[in-house]
Amino acid sequence: MSAQLEKQASYEATFAHNFRKQVFSRVPAIPARTELAWKTVLVTGANVGLGFEAVRNFLRLRPKLVIMGVRSVEKGEAAAAVLRGEFPDPRIEVWELDMESFRSVQAFTERAERELDRLHVVVLNAGLGKLKYERVEEGGCHEVSIQVNYLATVLLSFLLLPKLRPTASSSEPGRLSIVNSGACLGLSLEDPGNGRLLDSFDRPQKFDGFGQYGLSKLLVMMFVATLAQIIDPKEVIVNCTDPGATKGTSFFRSVNWIMGLGVRAFLSIIGRPTKDASRIYLHSSLVLGEESHGSWTDWIIRAWPKTMYTQQGQQLSERLWDETLEELKFAGVREKLQKAL
Ligand SMILES: NC(=O)c1ccc[n+]([C@@H]2O[C@H](COP(=O)([O-])OP(=O)(O)OC[C@H]3O[C@@H](n4cnc5c(N)ncnc54)[C@H](OP(=O)(O)O)[C@@H]3O)[C@@H](O)[C@H]2O)c1
Repeated sequence: MSAQLEKQASYEATFAHNFRKQVFSRVPAIPARTELAWKTVLVTGANVGLGFEAVRNFLRLRPKLVIMGVRSVEKGEAAAAVLRGEFPDPRIEVWELDMESFRSVQAFTERAERELDRLHVVVLNAGLGKLKYERVEEGGCHEVSIQVNYLATVLLSFLLLPKLRPTASSSEPGRLSIVNSGACLGLSLEDPGNGRLLDSFDRPQKFDGFGQYGLSKLLVMMFVATLAQIIDPKEVIVNCTDPGATKGTSFFRSVNWIMGLGVRAFLSIIGRPTKDASRIYLHSSLVLGEESHGSWTDWIIRAWPKTMYTQQGQQLSERLWDETLEELKFAGVREKLQKAL
């Protein structure tokens, strides 16, 4: 478990480690015995990039159903048509999900409640980084990367937990893997004093472009570590999965052309192709087991962001958990959590 890997945390946050891992390690193949017969898989942000390739990788394991959660059904159906051509057997469905909107997240999970017996594997991949400050127009009107990468991801996790639990006919634990990024490994949270942490992330004067993206991902790891202390891994195994720097996705769509050139040059050296990087999601959500509960993973278990081993990091993490549950109480998250225990 990452909780026991404090000694590695500083090194794993360095550029040298990540450069070596990216350039000299290969993502292992998925063991041949791995299969998904009769299982249902959900991947969010599945119309392009890592999410799309992850769906393709899951389809190779012949699941009963793959749900592609996408904010544009039109784009999602175009992507699904490509995959239906390659994999005629398994069902592929495209479901609308806009992570900028809590209402959309709730509508999505209500549909899952109505239409699915059970979810076996969930990969919450939808995410973004913004160079310019923007707020969403709903709920607490949070800065958009905090909303999409953290708050809506947490809400979706809570609301899907009951569907991930074992049933009489399907006894293995559900799998929930949330996509993270090495951009957060060296970051820490600032104590806002008497103010709320969640409000402190929304201040335009503190917004620093992709730094805010890293921060939103740090919050995700803190959430997963706390959730794992509450949820029994015999019921649902929850972890974070880090694909590492990946080339060929649309992630840097908001940068200008000069930055775009720099990013492409950088990724051409250290980025993995999406087909390899997205295989990491399968390692985290299928190959690694109970030992990965609450951990930072790729194909092995790695250390948490180093701040999470400090007393201040742990205190802020607890505060974040309480504030987050309070923020999301309109959706009955405490009750959903109780139901999943
Ligand atoms: N690329 C990397 O080097 C890298 C490294 C580490 C971690 N990651 C993480 O990997 C994940 C996938 O990134 P990617 O590189 O594949 O980027 P991408 O090609 O831009 O894909 C992002 C996906 O998220 C979806 N998305 C964005 N905002 C959304 C919203 N409000 N509601 C629903 N879906 C939304 C996008 O949908 P639209 O197409 O409709 O916008 C798209 O399907 C992200 O969580 C990212 O943080 C990426």
